[in-house]
Amino acid sequence: MDKNGVIIQLEKVCFAYHGGNNVIDELDLTFHQGDRLGIIAPNGSGKTTLFHIIMGLLKPCSGKIEIFGRPVQKEKDFHSVRRRIGLLFQDADDQLFSPTVLEDVAFGPLNIGKSKEEAISISRRILDFLGLSGFEDRVTFKLSGGEKRFVSLAAVLAMEPAVLLLDEPTAGLDGHTKAKLIEVLTGLDLPYIVISHEYDFITAVTGQIYTIENGKIFLDEELHVHQHEHVHRMGKQPHKHI
Ligand SMILES: Nc1ncnc2c1ncn2[C@@H]1O[C@H](COP(=O)(O)OP(=O)(O)OP(=O)(O)O)[C@@H](O)[C@H]1O
Ligand SMILES: [Mg+2]
Repeated sequence: MDKNGVIIQLEKVCFAYHGGNNVIDELDLTFHQGDRLGIIAPNGSGKTTLFHIIMGLLKPCSGKIEIFGRPVQKEKDFHSVRRRIGLLFQDADDQLFSPTVLEDVAFGPLNIGKSKEEAISISRRILDFLGLSGFEDRVTFKLSGGEKRFVSLAAVLAMEPAVLLLDEPTAGLDGHTKAKLIEVLTGLDLPYIVISHEYDFITAVTGQIYTIENGKIFLDEELHVHQHEHVHRMGKQPHKHI
């Protein structure tokens, strides 16, 4: 982090896929220690692209990126970025590739040099924290969509990151599981950026909501959070809306 507590700084960053139009266009972003920032923007506006640029998975055609106070440009500059920033991929199948849940969660810690015992112990602790104890030997590709999302989050947290980038973490989650995720995220002592299409979720877990338009990110002052009256079946059963 630099002396002003800035952890991610993008200046006039541009990115285009295969010589197409700029998906990200002279984008400026300053993300500080302690920030919890939400992004709500239309499909195809460049949200996932932005996360992949921050992780060094996509290389901008111009602009400047500084992470933890250091300029990052070349592939090797991003090695420590990937060690300290945990990205929850939009698609859990991009995150999980091992035969079992425990192997998937332990993969990261092993990869950064933890012993097998340490990696297993961290993984069990995180799985337990996320309410997934008992899932250790489950076959990853046979998990439900919601289970995969939580196991992906476990894999990210097992790396003990300093920052989280969460790409649509509630996609496919039921109300109960979403409530659990809100509890987990708000209880973490970590700064994060969350992409979501769900206003209620994003207002529950973040302090500022940004949007992306024409390749640029800005604070969305047009967003006014409000509640709706609603009617639905089984309304007499105890339930939560999130
Ligand atoms: N590998 C690729 N090759 C070419 N174009 C791509 C590629 N990936 C994304 N795009 C295009 O770049 C634009 C931004 O995509 P991106 O995935 O960043 O959007 P998004 O805001 O995350 O959308 P969503 O809400 O649907 O996840 C879209 O127009 C998309 O079609
Ligand atoms: Mg996306």
